[in-house]
Amino acid sequence: MNRVSSTPPDWASLPRSTPGIAAPEAGPVYEFYRGRRVLVTGGLGFIGSNLARRLVELGADVVVVDSLAPDCGGNPFNLADMRDRLQVHIADVRDREAMDALVAGCQVVFNLAGQVSHLDSMVDPFNDLELNARGPLSLLEACRRHSPDAKVVYAGTRQCYGRPLYLPLDEAHPNRPTDVNGVNKLAGELFHLVYGTAYGLRTCSLRLTNTYGPRQLMRHSRQGFIAWFVRLAMEGRTIQVYGDGRQRRDLTYVDDVVDAFLRAGASDAADGRVFNLGGSEPIALVDLARLIVAIAGRGQVELVPWPENRRRIDVGDVYSSYAAIQQALGWQPTTPLAEGLARMIAYYRQHWQHYVP
Ligand SMILES: NC(=O)c1ccc[n+]([C@@H]2O[C@H](COP(=O)([O-])OP(=O)(O)OC[C@H]3O[C@@H](n4cnc5c(N)ncnc54)[C@H](O)[C@@H]3O)[C@@H](O)[C@H]2O)c1
Repeated sequence: MNRVSSTPPDWASLPRSTPGIAAPEAGPVYEFYRGRRVLVTGGLGFIGSNLARRLVELGADVVVVDSLAPDCGGNPFNLADMRDRLQVHIADVRDREAMDALVAGCQVVFNLAGQVSHLDSMVDPFNDLELNARGPLSLLEACRRHSPDAKVVYAGTRQCYGRPLYLPLDEAHPNRPTDVNGVNKLAGELFHLVYGTAYGLRTCSLRLTNTYGPRQLMRHSRQGFIAWFVRLAMEGRTIQVYGDGRQRRDLTYVDDVVDAFLRAGASDAADGRVFNLGGSEPIALVDLARLIVAIAGRGQVELVPWPENRRRIDVGDVYSSYAAIQQALGWQPTTPLAEGLARMIAYYRQHWQHYVP
């Protein structure tokens, strides 16, 4: 793993312009990455590391940047077995000198660096502002100056919609975030769109829903409920579900999310667009908890009253329509929930000590 150096590498020989492809078929999408230089910010984290691994498999020249921000999901183990096949730079996307060097010559940038915890965003809103608004803006400035032809795909969130006025959520739903994280992530997304309209950068955003799978943080419970439920079940503990547990969510397995990023990065049809990713059939949280217990073969489920700090930012029933990305990029989730959970649990059985202190 490298600390980033301030001396820009010699990128001069690399092509500057990277026209994308129009066709949404999977074959050309995957071929697109062979030999291309691709930057993944937040690449030691959960989704970023899964994406970086897939890009290496597809023959891309992969550069990862991650600051290993405290309490976030960055984990060097996520890419440890790949260290000879990609570059990892421990640097902050807000570090201008570092990013100027790292974006130069990159043909696709996947911008996943960010802070995921909604609860933490309420406790320390300025840190969330730094990581989720200033961070993406800094990356875009580096691209504008040093890699204006790069395609930039942002990891947005359906949290920008807040409590739904109707379901399933589509991209026309008003943005009414219920927490600071939703506001800052929306700002991050809008910066990407503005850099498209104002400077001609080829940008787009994927609004992720609850994503789950291998390499997800399970050190603490503040980042997302799925990995925490999985950890509790695997430890034989009790999963506490708030209220009556009937609030429904859709979940997307991380390989499907990676596939959406690959399609968006390769296709001109994504430029200037915002797409929801949706997941499996919506499932009530109490049923999800029971399913995890059944697959793990351990643990139990209990309903408990809402803690006030979680109730005030809860969004109730939420699930998204993925019709727009299906139509534009041919994407749809393909991993059944039970299968994804089984794969996730099998991964943590094998690598438990790297995720649970
Ligand atoms: N996991 C989900 O369900 C979900 C849902 C919606 C949106 N998202 C978005 O997807 C992206 C990835 O999420 P994840 O679940 O993989 O989270 P994660 O915490 O596992 O990964 C995020 C990574 O970004 C890094 N990072 C944060 N700030 C940085 C900075 N300034 N410079 C460099 N690196 C920085 C962290 O160290 C971490 O490794 C985030 O932007 C998040 O908002 C995730």
